[in-house]
Amino acid sequence: MEEIYKRRSIRKYTDKEISDEDMKKILKAGMNAPSAHNLKPYDLIVIKNKETLAKLADTCIYSKMLNEANAAIAVCSKADNKETPHWQADCGAVTENILLEATHLGIGTCWIGGYPDLEKTAKEKEILGIPDNYQLFCLISMGYPAEERKVNDNYYEEKVHYEKF
Ligand SMILES: Cc1cc2nc3c(=O)[nH]c(=O)nc-3n(C[C@H](O)[C@H](O)[C@H](O)COP(=O)(O)O)c2cc1C
Repeated sequence: MEEIYKRRSIRKYTDKEISDEDMKKILKAGMNAPSAHNLKPYDLIVIKNKETLAKLADTCIYSKMLNEANAAIAVCSKADNKETPHWQADCGAVTENILLEATHLGIGTCWIGGYPDLEKTAKEKEILGIPDNYQLFCLISMGYPAEERKVNDNYYEEKVHYEKF
């Protein structure tokens, strides 16, 4: 459970490579997230090619850390609001599991928002060859941390309501 607090958005990375074995553990953690009706409406793209990472970094000022990243995962979904109306929640659960497993393995990550910013995701979808009828939920940049961030210790009493709102 430590990983929940240790996980921070890491945007600076060393050159050290993420092994295929660790990448598989990370993907597997994502695939064991809860999913509405257990439909698992997602596909995961692993990106290691530096040119592709640089192209993705160029799509938005908030994606620049991809220039330094060792790898990234794109979380996509067929996003059929009739068949899989909870696809966004499902993709969010996959994403958080990925971040936590990466933290467990000492790998830094940053969640980079995608959908519903359709202008930004159109560029990313083109770079990654994602079909038109799919949405890009988010990108996750990954690499061994080259920055230290303090452990999270948040608790907001005002956000908690007992029995009724
Ligand atoms: C839906 C979502 C979208 C995000 N998009 C970005 C992004 O595009 N670029 C970025 O640097 N960080 C992004 N973040 C990371 C947040 O800035 C970060 O989680 C927040 O500042 C809290 O910091 P922490 O993750 O270190 O606890 C995003 C986080 C979420 C949940």
